[in-house]
Parts: sequence; C-alpha cells; structure tokens
Amino acid sequence: MRIRRASLGDMPGIMRIEDLCFGRRRFSPQLVQSMLLRDDCLVLVTVDAEVVVGAAMCTFSRFQETGRIASIAVLAEHRGRGIGRSLLKASESELRDRGASRFTLEVSVDNAAAIDMYRSNGYSVGSIIADYYEKGESALYMEKDLTMRGKRTSVKVS
Ligand SMILES: CC(C)(COP(=O)(O)OP(=O)(O)OC[C@H]1O[C@@H](n2cnc3c(N)ncnc32)[C@H](O)[C@@H]1OP(=O)(O)O)[C@@H](O)C(=O)NCCC(=O)NCCS
Repeated sequence: MRIRRASLGDMPGIMRIEDLCFGRRRFSPQLVQSMLLRDDCLVLVTVDAEVVVGAAMCTFSRFQETGRIASIAVLAEHRGRGIGRSLLKASESELRDRGASRFTLEVSVDNAAAIDMYRSNGYSVGSIIADYYEKGESALYMEKDLTMRGKRTSVKVS
C-alpha cells in the first residue's frame, strides 16, 4: 500500500471512489480531470495492489498561503486502517511544501467519522454553513492554522 501523486491514468479509479463514496455529491469527471492537470491543485491516491483504494483532492492558494482539503475518501472495505489519516497527513505535507501554513475544509454536519478524523488531526470548527450542499444539508467549516500553534492570544479587558 502506498500514497503517490495521481495522474490522468488514475481517473477511472478516482471516479469509482467518487461514485461509491459520495453518490450525488461526487465531483464530476470534468472537475477531477481539471484538478489532475492544474498547478494549484493536488490529487493523491492510495494504491493497494494497483487498485486505487483512497483519494485526496486539494486546492492551494499561494496568495493566501492556504490549502483546502476538497475531498478525502476511502473505499468502504478499506476503512478503519489508517488510510484516511495518512492521506490527510500526506496532503498537508505536500501543501506545506508549496507554502501553505493554513488548511481549510468543509464537511457535512452528519459525517461523524470525517469530523472525528479532522478534529483529531488538529482541525477546529470555524463556523456552520447552512444549506451548503442543498437546502437542509449543512456543512462545518473547519480549519487548522499552523501559524497560531504555540501562540498565546492575549485579550485586553478595559
Ligand atoms: C472519512 C474517511 C475518509 C476516513 O477514512 P478511514 O481510512 O476509515 O480513516 P482512518 O482509518 O485513517 O481513521 C482516521 C480517524 O477517522 C475517524 N474515524 C474513522 N472511522 C470512524 C468511525 N466509523 N466513527 C468515528 N470516527 C471514525 C477516527 O478519528 C480515526 O482515528 P482513530 O483511528 O485514531 O480513532 C472515510 O470514512 C470515508 O471515505 N468516508 C466517505 C467519504 C467522506 O465522507 N469523506 C470526508 C468528507 S471529504
């Protein structure tokens, strides 16, 4: 099992994961293809015996020094073995190499497993975005700011 950068040849494997893991919320093939080609995007896959079993898709803003975790998904039969966490860590590491000091993401308020994964990797909830996916389907906006690590916030009370 290994993590590597994805190429266009991984499209079928990535789209299979998108279909099985996200259903109607999946990314379109056009979007995935553009993420594979663009310099400001990062797509990583976890491959087990030549089969794509997990994928992470991210975008990067050099200006804001921010990486956005757009999607992380693992095939159901491979979950619970640390693949999601290692894809998250590898994505952060690649984005840090490009200059990111802050990571953001949106995740469905109902997605307990993913929220737990992000929280236990240092993400905190910034806000709730009502109707983010559709009416009645809200998301948590989560972020992890490396520049804030170890800094004390002082609040003046007058
Ligand atoms: C979220 C997801 C990527 C996690 O992948 P995974 O390979 O099973 O995760 P890992 O085995 O690396 O576990 C990482 C952490 O996730 C959390 N987690 C994973 N499965 C969980 C579950 N069933 N219930 C609660 N927390 C869970 C835990 O915090 C876990 O850490 P721990 O093992 O120390 O407790 C996977 O469930 C998935 O693909 N879900 C569908 C797609 C999706 O919703 N993606 C997230 C939105 S972009």
